[in-house]
Amino acid sequence: MPPRVYIRPPQATDARLYSEAVVRSADHLRPWNPVEPDGLPDLLRRQGPTLRTFMIFDREDDGLVGRVNVANIVRARFRNGALGYDSYLPYAGTGRMTEGLRLVVTRCFAPVPEGLGLHRLEINVQPENSRSLALAKRLGFRHEGFSPRMLYLNDAWRDHERFALTAEEWPPAPSGTSVTSDAV
Ligand SMILES: CC(C)(COP(=O)(O)OP(=O)(O)OC[C@H]1O[C@@H](n2cnc3c(N)ncnc32)[C@H](O)[C@@H]1OP(=O)(O)O)[C@@H](O)C(=O)NCCC(=O)NCCS
Repeated sequence: MPPRVYIRPPQATDARLYSEAVVRSADHLRPWNPVEPDGLPDLLRRQGPTLRTFMIFDREDDGLVGRVNVANIVRARFRNGALGYDSYLPYAGTGRMTEGLRLVVTRCFAPVPEGLGLHRLEINVQPENSRSLALAKRLGFRHEGFSPRMLYLNDAWRDHERFALTAEEWPPAPSGTSVTSDAV
């Protein structure tokens, strides 16, 4: 089945759509990520060698499904990036975010200039964020470890479970057997 979504970089004209989606989804986002409905202009200014953002849109109605930041990009011998993401109502929980992230991961591993030419991607998730843990595993990311007090979110340093994937593992085996830990 072709994906129900498509991805592209954000642009200035997305500001209103973005703001409405974030406001509509505030209760769903707030426990895990700071909510900034007017944050798109700043995000656009920060795009560069260390940060690339992709917006996920629904193919049928062009509604904003989600946003994925590929952050902390390091080149040279590491070629690594960290994925951060939010899905928006009414698309959250419909599988579209998973489909969009698959497109983003493919783009990250594709060679430059079409892709970002990365070799490794990380996803860091708070241990209580069950939907995000499920998403990382569904994508085939491996559980690599636990990082205490890793990120400052909602006024405290939060522990994170660390997942990762290298280009050799993409796309994952259909069985999803590449997830090495059932404990998380
Ligand atoms: C984490 C987050 C991005 C997950 O996104 P999501 O919208 O749940 O992602 P998806 O819709 O792709 O997830 C698939 C879910 O849809 C369900 N689903 C419904 N219809 C589906 C379909 N046709 N195909 C696949 N899955 C479908 C799946 O069963 C799954 O639910 P489950 O996790 O309960 O098993 C989202 O919950 C979110 O934005 N949370 C707040 C911010 C956040 O936590 N960000 C991440 C910080 S690390």
